Amino acid sequence: MPGTPMGTLQIAPNVFWVGVKHYNRRLFDGLIPLPHGTSYNAYLVKGSNKTALVDTVNPGFEHDLLAKVKEHTDPEKLDYVIMNHAEPDHAHGLMLMMATAKNAMLVTSAKGKEAAMMYFNIPAERIMVVDEKSKLELGGKTLTFVDAPWLHWPETIFTYLVEDSILFPCDFFGQHLAIGEFYVDEYGDDTTLDMAKLYFAEIMMPFRKPGAAAVEKVKKINPKIIAPSHGLIYRNPKLILDAYTAWTGEKMKKKVLIPYVSMWGSSEKMVLALREALVRKGIEVQIFDIPNTDIGHIAKELVDSPVIVVGAPTVLGGVHPVAAYAAMLVKALRAPTKYAAVVSSYGWTGGAVKAVADIISGTKIEVIGAVDVKGPPKEEDFKKILELADKIEEKLKAV
Ligand code: FEO
Repeated sequence: MPGTPMGTLQIAPNVFWVGVKHYNRRLFDGLIPLPHGTSYNAYLVKGSNKTALVDTVNPGFEHDLLAKVKEHTDPEKLDYVIMNHAEPDHAHGLMLMMATAKNAMLVTSAKGKEAAMMYFNIPAERIMVVDEKSKLELGGKTLTFVDAPWLHWPETIFTYLVEDSILFPCDFFGQHLAIGEFYVDEYGDDTTLDMAKLYFAEIMMPFRKPGAAAVEKVKKINPKIIAPSHGLIYRNPKLILDAYTAWTGEKMKKKVLIPYVSMWGSSEKMVLALREALVRKGIEVQIFDIPNTDIGHIAKELVDSPVIVVGAPTVLGGVHPVAAYAAMLVKALRAPTKYAAVVSSYGWTGGAVKAVADIISGTKIEVIGAVDVKGPPKEEDFKKILELADKIEEKLKAV
């Protein structure tokens, strides 16, 4: 690994990445696939008088963190352990660090204090609550804080290192990537943004409003470096700030997302006909055979697709279960989808169309149509598909 011993990396004078890369992790929250693993980035900031550790690591890696900190300072003499976010992938390691550094204070938000006491048994007298007026002077290194609640838990804050203009936003702006590179510009802007969008869809998309507010705060700070706690470090923050401005601002593309499942080919014939009709109109279509698709890819397309068409047969009076899962994902992630349609087939009785409509009820999504066919689709059914394509084209004009 480049940089200093034990796989740490100096990212500015006396500022070190002391995190770990979890190369073989394949699932997060029992839900999110991690094709490239993930990293838990922790950062050590050494002033002339005091030393702070910004965030820690996932369970199982706390001794790696301790060893890495030891490369640069005596961990028993740490002054501050900053907890930007209480989720255990960043906060579990603070228990060992606080037990090692017996005089250190845990620095967090007021809500973070509650979480640190509840999850990690940190006594109240060892917790320093900070807000946007707080400053930690380490000696030539000054830390300030950004109130950034609900990104994606209620207690979240960002830490800013003034002299080196580095923002540590923990989860926000992250990507699930454990690769050899440390910086976005080493890995490539487009490849990083693709992973950042996937991450945004799965973690931050439901929190677009607080996300947009946080983006504006960060723009005002105008950091030179953004060092999140998952994935790569941005030396060109504009790249991710522009992307987050679009994603949190619901900037839609003229795009249709078609997740589908088919048992004997009828639903598939219809979604392929719809795809062709839309493409002929110059409309971008992203189509996914759900059982053979990493659900993250569908989530990623939800970020900027105003229209979703679910293709699925009726099964036992309802919709095919994997299509139900996709529809539930749209609702659970609070996708900015504006319009939905269903393309379905059935053998003896329908039910899929109603089932999908029921799942997405309670959202702001308008159901604009359905093609529900008994048996294999016939000529008149394909005419209905063309009419659905016309309706989608019309709706997209207003997007
Ligand atoms: Fe990466 Fe919300 O923890």
